[in-house]
Amino acid sequence: MASFRTSMRAAQPLRANLRAANHFAAPRPTAVRSAVRHYSSPAPGSPPPPNPSQSGSTRTVLFASVAAAVAAGGAFLAFGREDKKDILGVGADGANKLSGSKDRSKEIRESNKGQTGGRASEGDYQAVYNAIAEKLESNPDYDDGSYGPVLVRLAWHASGTYDKNTNTGGSNGATMRFAPEANHGANAGLIHARNFMEDIHKQFPWITYSDLWTLGGVAAVQELGGPKIPWRPGRKDGTAEQCTPDGRLPDGDKGSDHLRYIFYKMGFNDQEIVALSGAHALGRCHKDRSGFDGPWTHSPISFTNEYFNLLVNEKWNMRKWNGPPQFEDKSTKSLMMLMTDMALTQDPSFKQHVQRYAKSEDEFFKDFRSAYAKLLELGVPQENFKAFETKLEGGRPFEFATTAEQENSQ
Ligand code: HEM
Repeated sequence: MASFRTSMRAAQPLRANLRAANHFAAPRPTAVRSAVRHYSSPAPGSPPPPNPSQSGSTRTVLFASVAAAVAAGGAFLAFGREDKKDILGVGADGANKLSGSKDRSKEIRESNKGQTGGRASEGDYQAVYNAIAEKLESNPDYDDGSYGPVLVRLAWHASGTYDKNTNTGGSNGATMRFAPEANHGANAGLIHARNFMEDIHKQFPWITYSDLWTLGGVAAVQELGGPKIPWRPGRKDGTAEQCTPDGRLPDGDKGSDHLRYIFYKMGFNDQEIVALSGAHALGRCHKDRSGFDGPWTHSPISFTNEYFNLLVNEKWNMRKWNGPPQFEDKSTKSLMMLMTDMALTQDPSFKQHVQRYAKSEDEFFKDFRSAYAKLLELGVPQENFKAFETKLEGGRPFEFATTAEQENSQ
């Protein structure tokens, strides 16, 4: 435990910086603009760069220590059974529930027995979460200082290929590891996220890529200040033959009919389309990836309802530039909206939810939590969750403790 505390203290300045940036990120267009950096994507499918800082490093010891401490404290979180009648086991309550379970703690302690070299034992998903969380800011030169947004997008693009009519695609398979899916236009730039995850996979080779990529989306949302996202393991990796056809993900230069065509195929309704679009609070468009350019909000590494506030309260004009059609804000000309983002304010059925989420971040968080959890399970056969259900707490989804919560509980 002493080594855990020491490690956590050593790691604090980094996170303290992020928190300060997150919480005091009042509009700072200059800072945002200066953070624009352009990276050309390595050829899709190229091998991930070696990461010499992994095995045997203090980082690994820290992850293992955090995981052990979390396990001992019973910090795995789970939903009450009564919540399971809601969508895919997701309850209506977005609040953090620290419901330490003695049985669960014991199980984790048992499973951690005999581990050597600081490597977390199989099934220790909180340790995987912690490893992802600790690496989010590992490269201050990457975009706005966090890999979080591109991990949220990787989890979404891995899952959003689901087609309910043919029951194909979805997060089960992680088929974006292979051509042709890795080369689909919509996936441009996601090599950065896949390489990030490759490093994590080396530390936890027992986890499937399909589980890992979705867990990455959960960790990123939570660490950047968003709601807790319930998550269950059980996805299996697929083969190149299972790659989905191009064209299942949305294009940014289209309107509400296109949004409905794409998202209804996944099984989402209008309210869920709006809630999910709120993820554009995070990150930015890159000219060398999608062709679009710029961030949606002034705080692109903070998960907030600012996207909806800007849609409602800001004036948006078409940007005059030599690029695809996009909007820019009248006040600072430093922010952008896609045609699909603006469609949410033009269509009455979408607009009511935009207005609701602009007024209440709580409502946005509650709905995003349900919709994103549903997205991350698209295409996963229910029987895949059986092993998890029989082993862990009756199959109630995990709710992971954030790194901030873990520090505070010390
Ligand atoms: C509604 C239809 C959507 C369209 C047309 C769309 C389109 C785009 C485009 C064009 C980009 C820029 C990619 C780049 O140049 O790097 C982007 C980025 C992003 N999208 Fe979406 N998206 C949609 C829905 C979603 C959903 C449902 C989520 C997650 C729940 C999401 C999360 C993100 C995030 C976090 C980024 C930033 C990535 C980064 O900073 O690297 N998007 N999206």
